Amino acid sequence: MFDSYLPFDGEHESVFQVDPRPIKFGPGAAAELGSDANRLGMRRVAVFTDTRTHDLAATDRALASLSASAIDYDVFDETRVEPTDRSFLAAADFMNGGGFDGIVSIGGGSVIDTAKAANLFCCHPGEFLDYVNPPIGAGRPVPGPLLPHIACPTTAGTGSESTAVAVFDLSEQHLKTGISSRFLKPDLGLIDPEFTYDLPPLVTASTGFDVLTHAIESYTAIPYSQRNRTADPAARPPYQGANPHSDAGSMEAIRLGGRYLLRAVNEPGDTEARIAVMYAATLAGISFGNAGVHIPHAMSYSVAGKIEGYYPEGWPDDHSMCPHGLSVIVNAPAAFRLTGSSNPARHRDVAEALGADVSNVDDTDAGERLASTLIDMMRACGVPNGLSELHYNDSHVADLAEGAYKQQRLLKLSPVAIDLPVLESLYRDAMRYW
Ligand SMILES: NC(=O)c1ccc[n+]([C@@H]2O[C@H](COP(=O)([O-])OP(=O)(O)OC[C@H]3O[C@@H](n4cnc5c(N)ncnc54)[C@H](O)[C@@H]3O)[C@@H](O)[C@H]2O)c1
Ligand SMILES: [Fe+2]
Repeated sequence: MFDSYLPFDGEHESVFQVDPRPIKFGPGAAAELGSDANRLGMRRVAVFTDTRTHDLAATDRALASLSASAIDYDVFDETRVEPTDRSFLAAADFMNGGGFDGIVSIGGGSVIDTAKAANLFCCHPGEFLDYVNPPIGAGRPVPGPLLPHIACPTTAGTGSESTAVAVFDLSEQHLKTGISSRFLKPDLGLIDPEFTYDLPPLVTASTGFDVLTHAIESYTAIPYSQRNRTADPAARPPYQGANPHSDAGSMEAIRLGGRYLLRAVNEPGDTEARIAVMYAATLAGISFGNAGVHIPHAMSYSVAGKIEGYYPEGWPDDHSMCPHGLSVIVNAPAAFRLTGSSNPARHRDVAEALGADVSNVDDTDAGERLASTLIDMMRACGVPNGLSELHYNDSHVADLAEGAYKQQRLLKLSPVAIDLPVLESLYRDAMRYW
């Protein structure tokens, strides 16, 4: 396992850090929310949902358990799907003056990230861009702890219940970016696969591909032992590069995704598949939370930020949007074709874990085999055939590349050097796959 990382040369990093938070996993976990909130000292809770996740049967069970534990709560169900700076601040307004001593989020990444941001701006008010990742914001460190937060994911997707990031669309610049701090990590991930049993097929596919790309990008990221040694151990970044801990979780998530994602999409009532994909999301979230993601996610942020006139089936139709998982997976085959040569063995491992036959794949073909395996899965799951189906064409390439180039926090984890011309050629390659 360490053979990918040795020898340590004294100049580069030899230490990696895992900063886990507790998780609880399994069907029925939602009904334990009251007991966990009680244990964390919550008496009056701000509950974040969106209009759909508010109405789920498992949400009723979770809220009933709060009442059964004599915990008072108010629900904010106006979370914007694919949140923005403005919607984050509206959620913080809900918390201000509400007398809350804890927060619970019940939803996908949109809701969990909104709850993280509301908690931050309520506890440590400041100018919005102060906390946002550079170069878009000032990257000011979060000064201290927030109110305790229990996150209950309702998509098998982002892993936000265990990550240190809140992602949003900066409305004025049409660009997605994030706020990162270890203080944003929820205190408990309460993961009940029953939340996902009624997830619509395309939402299942989109969020499931987000899981797969988290795991594949973590596994193929620059190794932590190739980053310069951290001068200040207290300032070691959460995104450290691939490491033995993230490798184990990523590989299992990839294997589960390869085996179960198509079943979860095509047979929504297949509970074994739903549970397995939820577990894959959990593992992938923990892994990318300490390894990081790279090119497909960096490219996704301008794909989502600049989308126009796109209203996918299964999401609210009150605003044009590109759901996160779709904005990532459309870039993934092009990106892994490029990165294949950086570590053919790892790209071949991933293709094999997804179910591909790799017996005749030599080093020069490893990236291509991984790309073609993903393309086959994309076709089978009914996701868009590249950027052209999201209404992009060659005239948008320069603008998309400029937006992606700003995501240096992610691009520095790429296993190959990335500049603007490389990003432009990746977007051209991502226009159409079949
Ligand atoms: N913080 C992180 O670490 C992180 C990581 C990746 C992505 N993200 C962000 O998370 C957001 C995307 O989150 P997501 O992919 O989980 O989806 P989402 O939260 O945007 O939800 C997608 C749609 O599915 C609906 N939905 C959610 N759960 C449902 C259920 N159980 N049954 C029926 N409908 C349901 C929602 O109402 C919404 O319409 C994006 O903003 C993305 O950038 C955050
Ligand atoms: Fe993601």
